[in-house]
Amino acid sequence: MEDIIKEILVSEEDIEKKVRELGKQITKDYKDKNLMLVGILKGAVIFMAELAKSIEMPVLMDFMAVSSYGKSSTSTGVVKIIKDLDFSVEDKDILIVEDIIDTGLTLAYLTDNLKKRGARSVKICTLLDKPERRKVEVPVDYRGFSIPDDFVVGYGLDYAEQYRNLPYVAALKEEVYS
Ligand code: XMP
Ligand code: MG
Repeated sequence: MEDIIKEILVSEEDIEKKVRELGKQITKDYKDKNLMLVGILKGAVIFMAELAKSIEMPVLMDFMAVSSYGKSSTSTGVVKIIKDLDFSVEDKDILIVEDIIDTGLTLAYLTDNLKKRGARSVKICTLLDKPERRKVEVPVDYRGFSIPDDFVVGYGLDYAEQYRNLPYVAALKEEVYS
């Protein structure tokens, strides 16, 4: 694996510690609420599974898969829902679980979409954040780590569907994707 990795940005130990902290905070904040985790496929799967184990109360878990509408999404932020939720969001307190926020367009769209469908509240929990790349403001309620503008893989994140199973987050060597 070393041959494709430029640098480990977040170690396995640091991720595990952070996920437990986030789980504790979410447990406190949602004590009297109707929490439903919405994971965004596929990148958020590993993070969502670990996070859910750190939340000490009953939660619903559901997933969505989205893709951007080609070029137009860079200006409009409209995303296409490939797989929708199984549950209704009505009267639920939704926590969207994402692997990474880049431009913010995906989450700005999804937050608005879930609110319009009658969610009681919609908040965002992301493992990684690339603040330098933001195009639209999105309130990040729970953030694991801010990272520089590097293409990263691991802990759910892929390059051409590979490397999702790495237990840490790493920047790829430029020659791998150029
Ligand atoms: P937005 O809408 O915030 O998109 O621009 C967030 C989505 O972009 C993908 N993304 C990455 N995926 N390594 C990846 O594997 C990266 O460095 C990276 N940066 C952005 C990701 O799918 C995320 O959900
Ligand atoms: Mg991806």
